[in-house]
Amino acid sequence: MKFVRSLMKAAALANVPKHIDHFSKFSPSPLSMKQFLDFGTINACERTSFVFLRQELPVRLSNIMKEINLLPDRLLGTPSVQLVQSWYTQSLMEILEFLDKTPDDQSVLETFLEVLETIRNRHNEVVPTMAQGVIEYKDAFDQQDAVTDHNIQYFLDRFYTSRISIRMLINQHTLVFSGNINPAHPNTIGCIDSVCDVTEVTRGKKIEVFFLGRVVIDLKSADGVLISDVQLLSSKAEKKEPIQISYVPSHLYHMLFELFKNAMRATIETHESSRTLPPIKVMIALGGEDLSIKMSDRGGGVPFRRTERLFSYMYSTAPRPCIEDKHRAPLAGFGYGLPISRLYARYFQGDLQLFSMEGNGTDAIIHLKALSTDSVERLPVFNKSALRHYKLSLEADDWCVPSKEPLNLANYRAQK
Ligand SMILES: Nc1ncnc2c1ncn2[C@@H]1O[C@H](COP(=O)(O)OP(=O)(O)O)[C@@H](O)[C@H]1O
Ligand SMILES: [Mg+2]
Repeated sequence: MKFVRSLMKAAALANVPKHIDHFSKFSPSPLSMKQFLDFGTINACERTSFVFLRQELPVRLSNIMKEINLLPDRLLGTPSVQLVQSWYTQSLMEILEFLDKTPDDQSVLETFLEVLETIRNRHNEVVPTMAQGVIEYKDAFDQQDAVTDHNIQYFLDRFYTSRISIRMLINQHTLVFSGNINPAHPNTIGCIDSVCDVTEVTRGKKIEVFFLGRVVIDLKSADGVLISDVQLLSSKAEKKEPIQISYVPSHLYHMLFELFKNAMRATIETHESSRTLPPIKVMIALGGEDLSIKMSDRGGGVPFRRTERLFSYMYSTAPRPCIEDKHRAPLAGFGYGLPISRLYARYFQGDLQLFSMEGNGTDAIIHLKALSTDSVERLPVFNKSALRHYKLSLEADDWCVPSKEPLNLANYRAQK
């Protein structure tokens, strides 16, 4: 029996590349926040969701699996990337099992929900594992060339976006159809809050960060070392109405938390010797199209030359933290704070930008869409233009490289 089962598994595994080829020919179907909300309320139908997901999840998985295969061989071959790839293969095979099952059978729907939960848990550690693979590759081969860095950056942006989107689909289905309605949050549909109070998320969360062995900030009681000042700018705020949009609070919290950590670290490191610390200021503005959040610190800023690198994975000026300490999130050091936060903002057509003035401080701005019809998933698709990015080769820059020594023109006198 065991033998037959392992034979069947081997046969299924052998077929995986064919399935990836097939499903990657389809483009993923981006959903708007409005569709997510409608899908979770007026149109909530577990069967429809099941039929959509058993096609859409393989499409999203296969599109990104095609790109994993295009990574440099020596990165693809690292144990960490192999492990990530095996999780993707396993999850794809598990969903494909449902292709020929009927949506009218309640037990099929129940098993599907359980499988989705298993998949979500299996992929919990994808980000640090992939990051580990990149570190192993860089350490082993000392690959510092611009093309490799560009490719890895391009790939990780797409790979992590794809992961955010797959988790979003899984979370919506499992939360909406598991039957556990959260009475404390009646406006929450799956993981979306249809009236997400942005001020509350910014100000209300108790953020405790351990830095240099002490608790640095506690926004709620405002008695930490740093006191954050939240200012609201909008006609609604003037009328004392809450500033609300339909959004995923956990995404917003992730972005704000990363920005706070960076601002705090910069402030403390710059003002280490002084007794008082300049506050971090937050402004929130709501217009007809955008909701913008600006966080300003006076933490000394970043030289302009380095600002482009801030969104690069692996770029950090903090010492690399020890991964073993799982009990608390490190304040900094992996260099993933800004790039991943920007992906969350961009996922629903927003953005995250940093403007810095060296010698003074930094403004970080998050732009989100104010309307749920404008918040549409931004998803990578595997096609010819994506392929071209991976085939990019190292060519000479089309701008001159300044030389360190002034040219001695006497050596270059025109021949008479
Ligand atoms: N507000 C800020 N002020 C000064 N430097 C900053 C600020 N935000 C980010 N940085 C710089 O950008 C780098 C990358 O930030 P991030 O992506 O959050 O990674 P990490 O915090 O893990 O280093 C930081 O190491 C720091 O040098
Ligand atoms: Mg950070």
